[in-house]
Amino acid sequence: MSSAQLRHENGATTTTKPKPNPITGTEIAAEFSHHDLTVARINNGSFGSCPASIISAQQQWQLQFLQQPDYFYFNTLKPSMLKSRTLIQSLVNAENVDEISIVDNATTAVAIVLQHVTRSFFSSDFRPGDAAVMLHYAYGSVKKSVQAYVARAGGTVIEVHLPFPLSSNEEIITEFDKALKMGKTNGARIRLAVIDHITSMPSVVIPVKELVQMCRNEGVDVIFVDGAHAIGNVEVDMRDIGADFYTSNLHKWFFSPPSAAFLYCKKSDKVSDLHHPVVSVEYGNGLAIESGWIGTRDYSAQLVIPEVLELFVNRFEGGIEGIRRRNHDKVVEMAEMLVKAWGTELGTPPEMCSSMAMVGMPACLGISSFSDALKLRTHLRVTFKIEVPIYYRAAPTLEGKVNPITGYARISHQVYNTIEDYCRFRDAIIKLVNDAFTCAVLSN
Ligand SMILES: Cc1ncc(COP(=O)(O)O)c(C=O)c1O
Repeated sequence: MSSAQLRHENGATTTTKPKPNPITGTEIAAEFSHHDLTVARINNGSFGSCPASIISAQQQWQLQFLQQPDYFYFNTLKPSMLKSRTLIQSLVNAENVDEISIVDNATTAVAIVLQHVTRSFFSSDFRPGDAAVMLHYAYGSVKKSVQAYVARAGGTVIEVHLPFPLSSNEEIITEFDKALKMGKTNGARIRLAVIDHITSMPSVVIPVKELVQMCRNEGVDVIFVDGAHAIGNVEVDMRDIGADFYTSNLHKWFFSPPSAAFLYCKKSDKVSDLHHPVVSVEYGNGLAIESGWIGTRDYSAQLVIPEVLELFVNRFEGGIEGIRRRNHDKVVEMAEMLVKAWGTELGTPPEMCSSMAMVGMPACLGISSFSDALKLRTHLRVTFKIEVPIYYRAAPTLEGKVNPITGYARISHQVYNTIEDYCRFRDAIIKLVNDAFTCAVLSN
């Protein structure tokens, strides 16, 4: 059987080996039989999922270390980490393997990039009042990091407010453009842009390539894409996107065990003084090497990345691209089934969905605060055994008309999901509506 070439948008290729016998439904079910099968888990987005074959492979790495730690440290760790990094380099079409570091999670990657920005303020390369731009929908910990590292160093933070529901990329581009202009008032400069590739809540695929280009045109110094949800979910191509920094978790949509993420740092003369926040003996040897040893700990989640492809992902037709395309189609189909049953609407058109979609919930449920949304999520877990996050937003007025939908469920689709998971959700909400339930009856 010959290898297949996956062509990226910029013409570069990644080689995958198609399997003669694609994985069967029974084999997929066996790979996830450790899940609590009483729960309809339509929330892959929050914590991802790891198949049984990868859990076993990870345990082999753990055993290798425990059997002969000294040999492992001196002979195995560095070359194996390089193998994982080389594989990621090829998957994301980075130019050089030195541009790829493996870290625990997106939160750590954010700390690395933003601490670098802090040092630029302290060294007076950046001046007090210079701006950082990020989406209002940026993930909570990312917003806190911008506060902790940029605002405390003297930077001004501009949040780009986006409407929701969204109907087109143009709405995002227009708002982002306004924020870039605002950042340049009074002679200040925009030093940092943090752009989500896929926002978490509400979940929307952002036209990241266009926004990066706009930042370049405006001379933004540091362009950082938070793609925490991206690899395994949408096309991720470093040369095509063109950011200075890009991170994606591997434990969300790439079937890695928790926790592993990559941080891409574009090779450039501008970027030195980039360090892992945990300083170890490798300090000063380059971020990728620093990140490969941050003290004694379990590195198995990072070392098992090649097996994720060999033992699991490549058993699917089309490999990771095939998986993400089918997940996207399925989540849109399920979202459309739900809005039809509930008489509501999608939060974005299908082309702005990844393997996650925002599904409007019936207004009569009375979701009138963030706390209501959280309480309803808990109620669905406890009473109906459904795991799904719910987003609240105040009912907006559009062209004089109030849109009554205040709650949107973020549904995910991953290979282990079945149509019954979504039917259970559909029927639970219909029951709540028929019972005249409202969030007001839920206690804290
Ligand atoms: C957009 C976004 N950024 C960052 C993170 C943080 O990821 P982690 O908790 O794995 O560090 C998340 C987590 O869901 C996220 O959705």
